[in-house]
Order: sequence, then C-alpha cells, then structure tokens
Amino acid sequence: MAVGGQSPGRATLHNGRAEDVYGSWPSPDVIVSDGAYGVGGFPGDPRTPARLDEWYASHVSAWSRCAHPATTLWFWNTEIGWATVHPVLAAKGWEYVQTIIWDKGIGHIAGNVNGVTIRRLPTVTEVCVFYRRRLELPGPDGPLAASRWLRSEWQRAGLPLYRANEACGVKNAATRKYLTQDWLWYFPPAEMMARLVAYANEHGDPAGRPYYAIDGRRPVTESQWERLRHPWKHQHGLTNVWSHPPLNGAERYRGGGRRVAPRVHNPGRNATAHLNQKPLEFMRRILQAATNGGDVVWEPFGGLCSASVAAMELGRRAFAAEPDPHFANLSRERLAGVANQIPLPT
Ligand SMILES: C[S@@+](CC[C@H](N)C(=O)[O-])C[C@H]1O[C@@H](n2cnc3c(N)ncnc32)[C@H](O)[C@@H]1O
Repeated sequence: MAVGGQSPGRATLHNGRAEDVYGSWPSPDVIVSDGAYGVGGFPGDPRTPARLDEWYASHVSAWSRCAHPATTLWFWNTEIGWATVHPVLAAKGWEYVQTIIWDKGIGHIAGNVNGVTIRRLPTVTEVCVFYRRRLELPGPDGPLAASRWLRSEWQRAGLPLYRANEACGVKNAATRKYLTQDWLWYFPPAEMMARLVAYANEHGDPAGRPYYAIDGRRPVTESQWERLRHPWKHQHGLTNVWSHPPLNGAERYRGGGRRVAPRVHNPGRNATAHLNQKPLEFMRRILQAATNGGDVVWEPFGGLCSASVAAMELGRRAFAAEPDPHFANLSRERLAGVANQIPLPT
C-alpha cells in the first residue's frame, strides 16, 4: 500500500544475476544489499563466511563504478559476514557510517540449538551496515578528503581562517564548523558553501583563481555541492537497534511447496517461501531516511524484493535481480500487487 500519500514508484525486476544487468541500470542513489551470508541460506550461498569477500568482490567493484558521490549502501549480513567483506568495501571507496543491529529477540533461538550453539550466548542478531562514498576532491597536489579540501582551498586563496565567518554572515560558526581539521567538522550546507566559494573567488589571491573548482575550471555551484551529499531525514526516536521478531504473520510469504534452503526442509503449504525475507518496515526506514521521491534504489539480491516493494510504496524507482525463477515469480506478483494498490496520480 502507499505510504505517506506518495505517488507510485516503479520496479524493474531481472530474472537473472545482478552482475549481468548492473550496466543497464541507472546510477543508484541507494543500494540495499542482502546477498550471501555464508550460512548455506540459498543455493549459491557458501556454507561458511570464510570466503565471502571473494563472493562479493565483483559486486562491490560494480557498485563503486556505478555509484555517484551521494550513493549510500546498506549492507545486510551476519556480524562475521560483514567483517569479512568490510575490507573489500573500504578498498573500493565505501566509507563506514554505522551499524544497525537487528535484534530478533529470544524467540529466534527456538529450534536453533545444536552442539556448537549450546556452548555460547544465543545469537539473535543480524546487522545492516550503512556506508557512503568516501568524498575526495581534487587539490593542487592530488585528491583531498572533503574537510581538508575546504580548508586547503581557503588557505590557497591566502585568506585568514576567521574571514569564513564574514563570508557566511555568522559570528564564529563558519570557521569553527567548516574549516576545522578535527572531528567537529561539518559538511557546509549548500547555501553556506555558495557563500564561501563566492567570497574566496572575490577576495582571494587573483593569481590562484578559480578556488573550489572541482573540475579545475569553474567554482562549484550550490546545486553541484548539494548533489555531493546523500539526503538524510531524521526519524525521531529511531536508534541503531531495531527490535523485530523474525518475520511472521501476514507479511511473510508462504507456500510454494519447495525446499527454500539446503538445510531447511519444510515442504508444507505453510513453509516460508523464502528463508531470508526481510521486514518491510526495515526497508521503509532505510529509504525514508536516505532517499527522496523518484530516487533510484538498487536491490541486487532480490529474494522476495522487500526493498523494491518499499521503494515502490514510497514513490522511488527500484531495480532488482533474482536468478531463481520461483523467487522471481513471487516477487513479480508481489510488486504487481503493490502497483495495483497504489492509487495512480490523477
Ligand atoms: C538473502 S536473500 C534476499 C532476501 C530479500 N532481502 C527479501 O527480503 O526477500 C538473497 C537472494 O539473492 C539471490 N542471489 C544469489 N546470487 C545472486 C546474484 N548473483 N544476483 C542476484 N541475486 C542473487 C538468491 O537467490 C536469494 O534469493
């Protein structure tokens, strides 16, 4: 159903491997990755997390190639699975922001006890790790992190740091927030950046102009600066611990009469259709926080395409892939169902 009175989004689902279609999808604003866990959870999921880094390497390369500076990545996995893949992500320019912990509650351990798990604390969590692109901008001697670039261009213009306050029309906040080199640095909002840029180019040493020119020729504009940073909409009271029991009830897809994973045999009509179906509420939270209407959401490892469903509900454009024809068919039905329930704009 539609959420928040949004116009309907669109979904494109490829029944095949994501790596075969990345090149045909528009650049993503958000990537929601829910692929291999190293638990033998679906055909092709390794039985252990030991080589998950290799499993993800070509995907991560493609994501980095297709991303833009404001793309965010939400990487679902087990803790050890994520730890194994993190170095690959970091090496390809993904900057860690934070870890969201899915607390499934004590009910999750029922039926999960064996000779290994009985000798440790019960595991009731999964993680979703939020990354953004590492932002580096061209300085005279090579790329600089955004905070260093801000200050280095100001100094290259020969301006004392305190004059950033005059540029921004504030008492002392501009120098303190935008030109500091410590952890209290703030990314200047676009209108403040426009003031800094205009001031540096007007009052800075004429010999060094242009200042703050990302392309080396023209100073960055307000809208170009805006596009370097992903949207962020604060949701009051929401923390990085998300408590939700494993998905059950009406939202959980059931049936299909087939084994859904090598380790799970539950062929009855009430068997879960897919072992890994994520709560829609989680996908909505991600997209409500980090996207705008019409944004492009990639869900490379579709399963039942929960992120794409949330994207459609919220009026975003989803691009998903799922090689298993059974899951792809279920997803197609699910996405069509969302499309039909969303009132079309008049
Ligand atoms: C963890 S599940 C995703 C569950 C999904 N988040 C949901 O809520 O339904 C991962 C899915 O990725 C699919 N998959 C595996 N390799 C893939 C690939 N190379 N490209 C696209 N999908 C793949 C699997 O068939 C499986 O259904």
